[in-house]
Amino acid sequence: ALEATLALLKPDILANPAFVDSIINDIQNSGMKIALRKQVFWTQGQAEQFYAEHRRRFFFDRLVKYMTSGPVEAIALSGPNVISWWRQKMGATRPAQMRMTNPTCLRARYGLTDTRNSFHGSDSVESAKRELVFVFGQPAYKQIIL
Ligand code: CMP
Repeated sequence: ALEATLALLKPDILANPAFVDSIINDIQNSGMKIALRKQVFWTQGQAEQFYAEHRRRFFFDRLVKYMTSGPVEAIALSGPNVISWWRQKMGATRPAQMRMTNPTCLRARYGLTDTRNSFHGSDSVESAKRELVFVFGQPAYKQIIL
């Protein structure tokens, strides 16, 4: 199905502009479409809201601190099955594990730690909608999914 998803390049990646360029090039060469792009710098409250489902996890404070440590590049991607496409391209949460099992994925190549894993991707159509509206607003979301 034609889908949209939210990809985030987290603060550790933005600190390396050459990495950002290379990743954006990869996406553009894949056939998936970058519908919107926006650099955001979240407040603590915004990061807490975005990750509300993790509020009770042991890593929550660490996660919020990381996501407010610098700017984040938010990218609205659209294309056929783009939600799972982007999640496969990122790999799973833990970079060290990915370096052993899936060394070509983005988190294996760029991720630093379980917290500083460099990328985010929406996990379902519902999450993608909520996250895209959170970052880009409802009117922009409507444009993306047209
Ligand atoms: P993601 O899986 O996209 O969403 C939840 C985020 O919390 C995750 O990326 C990491 O940035 C962070 N995270 C997940 N698991 C851990 C962990 N075990 N320790 C620290 N941070 C984590």
